[in-house]
Amino acid sequence: MKPIYINLAVAIFLAAATPAFAAEKSKLDDQTQLPKAPAKVNNTSYFKPPLESELQGNAFGELVRRGEAIFVNTKALAPDYVGNGMACVNCHLDRGRKANSGPLWSAYTMYPAYRKKSNKVNTYTERMQGCFQFSMNGTAPPADSEILTALTAYSYWLSTGAPTGKSLPGRGFDEPPPPPGGFDIARGKVVYDAQCALCHGEQGAGKKVGSTYVFPPVWGKDSYNWGAGMHRVNTAAGFIQHNMPLGRGETMSDQQAWDVAAFINMHERPQDPRIVNGDIELTRKRFHDGDGTNLYGTVIDGVLIGQGIK
Ligand code: HEC
Ligand code: HEC
Repeated sequence: MKPIYINLAVAIFLAAATPAFAAEKSKLDDQTQLPKAPAKVNNTSYFKPPLESELQGNAFGELVRRGEAIFVNTKALAPDYVGNGMACVNCHLDRGRKANSGPLWSAYTMYPAYRKKSNKVNTYTERMQGCFQFSMNGTAPPADSEILTALTAYSYWLSTGAPTGKSLPGRGFDEPPPPPGGFDIARGKVVYDAQCALCHGEQGAGKKVGSTYVFPPVWGKDSYNWGAGMHRVNTAAGFIQHNMPLGRGETMSDQQAWDVAAFINMHERPQDPRIVNGDIELTRKRFHDGDGTNLYGTVIDGVLIGQGIK
């Protein structure tokens, strides 16, 4: 029997490929007359993780499959540790295989590593715990839990044959440089309405079938929190430029990617769990100043950003 996520992925792909979708999309493009962005040429050849079919049916294979299942259906399989509507795979696309989408094959071999965020050397386990706490707005499973053991096994297997301690091309989210004139949130909204709202919703809330998100939220109570890496405009711009709109990555200009990333990341989401004495200003100083480009604790149109949402 095929696991459910394959069906979901197919459903998503079909949704994106249907003529109705295409018609809707070109209507929107006409209305907003977006400047056509030159497609980025990318000839980089990336590390190839092993194929699913190469995985053996032994105890190791079982553990790897379990890790993959948790990575894809995180909320269902690790419910105690997830506080929003997200799954790991929502940001680490193609089950953690896709280059420039935080692929696991380039991550596993880079730990233990020093992280500024925690000001200490993190193990791979601690790095994943960070994504549970911030990206998943949840709590970290214990280091020796079955969940983290399975996720580690999956990452280890995906990096079969990758060199240790060498940052491979495609690691992380490869950010476009900040546009010379800065970013523009109003322009970002135009991009969002034309190219993103169809799937992620006009209010950024994503779309559900039953209780499962098929299109994940990009802001609001079920999205990543104010402490997550994706809240940085530069990081989101990198993710978006390479991967969005889904199935049509590498089609947005640096400017469009930054504008729409800023638009998404000016919206409220769950509070940064590291908040200092309930004070946004202090929290900004301690954790957000110097953490790339982000809007937490800034004032936009007279509104203080970063108040959090439950
Ligand atoms: C909302 C998007 C999002 C979700 C959901 C998410 N991550 Fe991440 N993840 C990121 C971002 C962004 C980074 C890079 C962060 C940074 O640079 O601070 C990252 C980094 C990582 C890294 C380190 C990558 C490297 O090259 O060093 C690992 C491992 C990881 N995530 C695993 C997970 C796991 C496991 C889950 C699910 C429990 C998960 N992530 C959920 C966005 C996400
Ligand atoms: C055809 C539908 C579709 C369109 C259009 C689309 N997305 Fe997505 N987006 C998705 C899906 C599905 C995922 C999760 C991928 C997965 O789980 O494999 C996703 C993931 C994301 C994520 C990371 C997860 C999260 O919810 O935070 C961000 C950010 C995002 N999209 C932003 C955008 C932006 C910005 C645009 C417009 C430029 C856009 N998307 C257009 C379907 C779409």
